[in-house]
Amino acid sequence: MHTLTGRGSVKLFAGNSHPSLASEIAEILDLPLAKREIVEFSNGNIFIKINETVRDHDVFVIQTANDPVNNNLMELLFMIDTLRYSSPARITAVMPYFPYVRSDKKDQPRTSIGARLVANLLETVGADRVITLNLHSWQIQGFFRIPVDHVLADSIIIDHLRTRDLSNTVAVAPDAGGAKRVEKYAHMLHLPFVIMDKRRAANDDKSHIQNIIGDARGKDAIIFDDEISTGGSVLGTARMLKAHGAEKISAAVVHGVLCGDAVTRINSCPDISEVVCTNSVATPDKASGKVKIHSCAGVLAKAIQHIHNGDALTPIYEEYYYHTT
Ligand code: R5P
Repeated sequence: MHTLTGRGSVKLFAGNSHPSLASEIAEILDLPLAKREIVEFSNGNIFIKINETVRDHDVFVIQTANDPVNNNLMELLFMIDTLRYSSPARITAVMPYFPYVRSDKKDQPRTSIGARLVANLLETVGADRVITLNLHSWQIQGFFRIPVDHVLADSIIIDHLRTRDLSNTVAVAPDAGGAKRVEKYAHMLHLPFVIMDKRRAANDDKSHIQNIIGDARGKDAIIFDDEISTGGSVLGTARMLKAHGAEKISAAVVHGVLCGDAVTRINSCPDISEVVCTNSVATPDKASGKVKIHSCAGVLAKAIQHIHNGDALTPIYEEYYYHTT
């Protein structure tokens, strides 16, 4: 249990995206989830009512970017907007998996930058700060003019991997964009690393692993990524590693988005033995067979506690990221 000693009262709200994660965070903080009504009318319109006073309170609203991502985002915006007109001292949006996180740049002519738009919307409705977990690219913090506490769930994954014999293992980046991230994991676990040459030919979910840069022959391999969505990148990487002589292949990712039939495809793929991720996205029926899910509630609860108490977040980064022993 984390103790909340900050000035003023604190209230914890949750949208409908991930009730079990919200309850876990509330339990760790020894706080009830505050009462609210969320109604969706037959015409799809949303209605929100906050059923407790929040006047001068330090308010936290938990909502992650589960499917249906646009509804959940809209629900969060409505909740913050409603709270803003209810006179709290501060509103923090707690967004474990940030919506549109992969849409972070204009890398083709006339394309949307979804994560920047979400940042603008959060500010417009009156969020004072944001807590989020493992952004696809850290520069997204710069889309905001309000503070973003970008907390990291890396050690949750790393601690799971440390229980294994890693003496004959390579860390694998599934694309060049993830090389820096994987270099950090490789450093934490004292592993050599290889990079895959991954291409996306069109603006769809499909990726193609073209080649491997480095040597995984005769070694076990752990593929590290920020998220697994359709599973295409991880499964394509596993296939290519197998073809290049790798032995036991597993994957470790923070956000287990696992859309559609991703879990079934992982479980039936002979090239991969395990996928470990956190519950930053709701995973009611996803932890099955090879898919192992660890809770990220602890690091989020700690971030809420430190922010409310006015304490630095540096110890959290040290505990969950700069973890090199
Ligand atoms: C993309 O750059 C991300 O880091 C992941 O590699 C990607 O989101 C995985 O998507 P999928 O599982 O659909 O291949």
